[in-house]
Amino acid sequence: MSFKLIKETELHDDFEIEILTGLSQSPKKLSSKYFYDEYGSELFQQITHHNDYYLTKSEKEILATRSNDLIKNILDANIDLIELGVGDGHKTTHLINAILNNKKRLKYIPIDISEKAFQQMNEIYSKTHNGEFETLGIVADYIDGIRIAKKQSNSRVLLLFLGSNIGNFDSTNTKSFLKKIWNQLNHGDYFLIGFDLKKDISTLMRAYNDSDGLTEKFNLNILNRINNTMQADFKIENFQHFGCYNPILGAMESFLISLKDQDVYVKKLSQVFSFKRYEPIHLEYSFKYLESDIFDLAKKTGYLVEEIYHDSRKFFANALWKVEKNV
Ligand code: AVJ
Repeated sequence: MSFKLIKETELHDDFEIEILTGLSQSPKKLSSKYFYDEYGSELFQQITHHNDYYLTKSEKEILATRSNDLIKNILDANIDLIELGVGDGHKTTHLINAILNNKKRLKYIPIDISEKAFQQMNEIYSKTHNGEFETLGIVADYIDGIRIAKKQSNSRVLLLFLGSNIGNFDSTNTKSFLKKIWNQLNHGDYFLIGFDLKKDISTLMRAYNDSDGLTEKFNLNILNRINNTMQADFKIENFQHFGCYNPILGAMESFLISLKDQDVYVKKLSQVFSFKRYEPIHLEYSFKYLESDIFDLAKKTGYLVEEIYHDSRKFFANALWKVEKNV
């Protein structure tokens, strides 16, 4: 595998501004996109291996068993595989091998906001794949990243957005994100998206309140991150993780609850934030979908549904969409 890296020069880091606006609002909120500092990413890796968190296992099962069928939908001889986010590589490997086994020429273009993510990736792919291909890493946010990737691409694109990361957007942002992506792609390009499906609520609750407290640590770590990067004095033990299912939204939601009346000073913002006893901070949405939602979203944002793949328990779906521009 050959490897090259392109860095977007204007990376916008809105962390501090978003902390300020989020904590000044009522109800208070912090965006789940800030979970993933070094320790947060490691905790997330641990969550994905935990028995209670079925999502990763289900999606792995789909890609391990269906990648060959999936790639057969794409008749082109050359594929540029663009991936939003560099995962641990264990899922994408199945698609890479299916492309190579079908004797297609492959260019792999992962996009991630963190340059660190690419070091790990290199180690994994040098061990797991069984053929030769070119890799071009792009350090950028997703939409900028796709624009840069398309400039480097002259083959059919298969874009990957795995892991039900799409579930973190609220419903308005989901549609605008899908439409922004549609704008960047060509007619006939493919888009493979992971959707976590609606299911028995107790299974959902276990996945977001795992029995070893990993999710609790993962959510509380955002306070550590603010302490470390913005010289704040959050006392972690004064907050409690709370995860629940909102059946009206169709989403798991997570909160941190202040266990007492308390003031927190954030030195970098020269601001004190006051918390009432039992006051929540909203952290994360993880939306859950029906198959009909997947068709609906595709239709509203300009895609045709080619195929939907499920795991054996029907917990998760990978939908293969095709960009439709000539209607
Ligand atoms: C990485 C966004 C798919 O929402 O299930 C895991 C993050 N949050 N446990 C998800 C997460 C709590 C995860 N995604």
